[in-house]
Order: sequence, then structure tokens, then C-alpha cells
Amino acid sequence: MLLNASGCLDALTAPDVARSLDVFVTKTVTPEPRDGNAPVRIAETDVGMLNSIGLANPGIDRFITRALPQLARLDMPLWVSVGGFAADEYAEICSRLDDHEEVTAIELNVSCPNVESPAQTTAQIVASARLATRKPLWAKLSAAVPDLAEVARAAQDAGADGLSLINTLRGLALDERTLQPSLRPVVGGLSGPALKPVALAAVYACRRATDLPIVGMGGVQSGRDALEFVAAGARHVALGTILFADPDSPARVRAELDAELQAHGYANVDDAYAIAHDGSLSTTAT
Ligand SMILES: Cc1cc2nc3c(=O)[nH]c(=O)nc-3n(C[C@H](O)[C@H](O)[C@H](O)COP(=O)(O)O)c2cc1C
Repeated sequence: MLLNASGCLDALTAPDVARSLDVFVTKTVTPEPRDGNAPVRIAETDVGMLNSIGLANPGIDRFITRALPQLARLDMPLWVSVGGFAADEYAEICSRLDDHEEVTAIELNVSCPNVESPAQTTAQIVASARLATRKPLWAKLSAAVPDLAEVARAAQDAGADGLSLINTLRGLALDERTLQPSLRPVVGGLSGPALKPVALAAVYACRRATDLPIVGMGGVQSGRDALEFVAAGARHVALGTILFADPDSPARVRAELDAELQAHGYANVDDAYAIAHDGSLSTTAT
């Protein structure tokens, strides 16, 4: 499956782009409306993009009354990304979404790099959400933790159905002339090409640590990138920053992936799944 990364596509303003994916994932929704951070919230770097959007969203009430009915009209699988500042906030939103059949799955944005025990915090959030909904739960994790495999196992043990890997990493960009931070909140989330090796390592580690299906993301720009995520152990791939530069990337990435599979002698994407764990070289056509 090809998905968008949360926050990287507005399906209501670009429905055709959304429909070119297999699943649309919403921007993270929180219990209360949030304005997010003051501008400037986006900065370019040589290796990717920095954003400090800060979970700007209308809050769960308006999401359910206004956005959800419109998103349902897309008539495609819909994952709602959910965020909060405590486990009970995640649970509250999950229970609100539980009765909405147009919601296929819930992605828990548990990418909390600054907590003392990421595994324990993740377990608490997933366990609370698990009690609040019957929907499949995907735990979206940050790679900025001491032991990601431990966090992934904690998510699995607490009842997650899958993992989304990875969220942005903290970065800083300085204005060329003034040498002051380019973003108003100083630091922001780094996304794009710089993330790919980190994300591949995360997928690889979590594939070994758990049995959970993984959505891999982080700097995917091409079919070759998608193939690498599959080879590292991702069942699904999400496009993020690339969607801003190239709204046609879903169709392009699919076509390139097919060509890559063929060039490597794989009949389909399942043949390439987790192949990087085999310890043997794949048959590569030149
Ligand atoms: C502008 C922007 C907004 C984002 N908003 C969210 C969000 O609301 N929730 C979330 O879980 N991730 C969010 N992300 C992170 C992406 O979903 C993704 O994990 C990350 O960008 C890595 O993928 P990429 O390198 O392909 O962009 C955002 C990323 C960007 C660039």
C-alpha cells in the first residue's frame, strides 16, 4: 500500500492526489483546537525541510462534524492520526472515532522524544487507546529514542496492530545572512532525504524486534527508495515531503517501483519484502 505521511497532504484541497494513494492519512488531530506555532514555520535546508507547524488542527469536535463527512466522500480508506499530551487524551479521541465506520484505522502519533521512558509512555498511550476503540491502531514512533526496538516491542505488547516509522527529527536552520534561527520556535522537525538512512535503520530494527506490519517513511522520493523500505521490512510505504514538490509522485513512485522490482527479478513486492534481512544477495540484473 502507498499512503501519504500525516500532515503532508490536505485531501480536501487536493482530492485527486489523495485518490492516487491507497490510503489517506489525516494530519494529527488533538482533543482541543490548536493554532500551532507562529510563522515562520517552514525552512529549506540542503538535505530536506524543517517544519514547526506544531500540530495545528481544528480539534476533534470540528474534525468530526466538518472534516470527516467531507473526507468520507473521497470514498477511500481513511486513517486518522491522533495526538495528545497524556494517554487519556488519546483514549478520548479514539473512543470518539470508534463509531465512525468511515475511519479505517487510527494512527497514534506517539513520537514523543523528550519523555524519560519512551517505551513506558508508548505502552500507556497504546494500551489506553486499545481499550477505547476496536479500530486497528498504528503506533507512529520517533527514531530519536535510545532504544527504538524496545519502544516497538512495548507498542506491540500494549496492543498495537502496526507501526508507522518514522516521524521527523529535531533540526535547526540558520538564516544565511543574519545567522539567526530561520524558524520562529528555533528548532523544527527535519523531513526529506536526510531522514532516509535513519528511517531505514528504524524499519530494519523494528522488523527484527516485532511481528507488526510497518509503514515505512522518511525521505522517500522514488521507486528505488520505496523498494529499499520494503527490503528493510516495511509492508507499506508513505510519501511525505515529496508530495509538496511533486503531487504526481504517487503514480511516479508506483511506476518506478514496478520497474525496480522487474530489474531485480522480483515477481511482486512481496518477493522483496524484508529481503535485506536474508544475509544473501538478491539476483540483480544490470
Ligand atoms: C509539514 C509537515 C507536517 C507534518 N505533520 C505531521 C503530523 O501532523 N503528524 C505526524 O505524525 N507527522 C507529521 N509530519 C511528519 C511526517 O508524517 C513524516 O513522518 C515525516 O515528514 C517523514 O517523512 P518524509 O521525509 O517523507 O517527509 C509532518 C511533516 C511535515 C513535513
